[in-house]
Amino acid sequence: METIVNLCKARGFVFQSSEIYGGIGSSYDYGPLGVELKRNVKEAWWRDMVATRDDIVGLDSAIILNPKVWEASGHLEHFTDPLVDCKQCRQRFRADDIEGDRCPVCGGELTEPRQFNTMFKTFIGPVEDEASVAYLRPETCQGIFINFANILQASRKKLPFGVAQIGKSFRNEITPGNFIFRTREFEQMEMEYFVYPGTDEEWFDYWVNERFNWYVKYGIKKENLRLRQHPKEQLSHYSKATTDIEYNYPFGWAELEGIANRTDFDLTAHSRASGKDLTYFDEARGEHITPYVIEPAAGADRATLVFLLDAYEVETFEKGGKKDKRTVLRFHKDIAPVKAAVMPLLRNRPDLVETAKKLAQDLQKAFPTMYDDTGSIGRLYRRQDEIGTLWCITIDVQTVEEDNQVTIRDRDTMQQIRIPIEGVKKYLTEQLGKDC
Ligand code: GAP
Repeated sequence: METIVNLCKARGFVFQSSEIYGGIGSSYDYGPLGVELKRNVKEAWWRDMVATRDDIVGLDSAIILNPKVWEASGHLEHFTDPLVDCKQCRQRFRADDIEGDRCPVCGGELTEPRQFNTMFKTFIGPVEDEASVAYLRPETCQGIFINFANILQASRKKLPFGVAQIGKSFRNEITPGNFIFRTREFEQMEMEYFVYPGTDEEWFDYWVNERFNWYVKYGIKKENLRLRQHPKEQLSHYSKATTDIEYNYPFGWAELEGIANRTDFDLTAHSRASGKDLTYFDEARGEHITPYVIEPAAGADRATLVFLLDAYEVETFEKGGKKDKRTVLRFHKDIAPVKAAVMPLLRNRPDLVETAKKLAQDLQKAFPTMYDDTGSIGRLYRRQDEIGTLWCITIDVQTVEEDNQVTIRDRDTMQQIRIPIEGVKKYLTEQLGKDC
């Protein structure tokens, strides 16, 4: 993990937030490459979950909702973690993270656990009193449930159908940590799939399968993923069944995404609390029903971390009869933040530099491309491998003086091909468009 954290900082993927002021607990900022990487993760999710399906629509709801939402959803009562304090060193822990009954730092005596609500509280308007209390949402899905009737009326969708949302959520976690794995501010990618009661278990299996395969499709190694069913006593207050997709992180197996069968809990609860009808009229049966909900809930930051961890490789190989080593991020082509880098073989030859810059600018219009002439070609290749750039394109003397051809080096195989400069954009666009 430390290697990834260092690489992320050095190459501009992720920085400690507020670093110049000494940082702030478990908060991170995405740098120039990180922002592209995370966007690609979110775009791949949106494309596969919404854009290419005719049974799922999107939503972008507010972060601060009417506080009654959190009362009805059960979050005010149940969204708590058991908190204990050490009477000696005063450190705080989640009781369920601790083995035994002593402080894991100093061995001191612990207080009795008390329930700590992890929703972030704020106030609306200038007066900070009970009447103006509001919360930052701890999950994106409630915005979907409270808009159920609006979406149904506007989209005219028939069951089964889904509503998807990507956005920030906030949890005042007692023990955040492990880099961007658990933070207090994070982005979720959630989809609520409304189905006929009685078909929910079938759809639950379908979504567990779909979501597992989604990570494999984008290059996560199957052996680093597994499914874990929650035992009854671990289920959230709204869930009839939950299966986590877990990843084998450097600190062990832990949740990457959760798929839950939320039954009709949320629609029923919001309908009861608001007095509004949140049913679906089934024309065939001539009756109103409250759909069941299957929810695949993923974290954009956690998925980004997994794409980074899984792509990371230190490879040893033979070069000119000698052993050589390189660090490479083997991102899937859709996930890689930079697709191509163009470099002149000699940076003191204006004609090579000009040709390389012109090609980079042209490619940039089609996909993220970098121009780089800040080192020897070997060093530039290493640098691009380390950020996962798919192809390096070199302009050499032969290009400008003889054949107008360029060398394209593949990140994974390190194989080089030579093709005419005017065919580069078409060739790479075709490669990017190919299904894997
Ligand atoms: N609506 C259901 C729900 O929010 P969850 O399992 O609590 O379920 C879903 O969260 C996903 O959101 C998790 O699998 C994880 O990827 C991400 N997530 C949750 N808490 C997080 C945190 N503190 N930091 C980063 N990601 C988090």
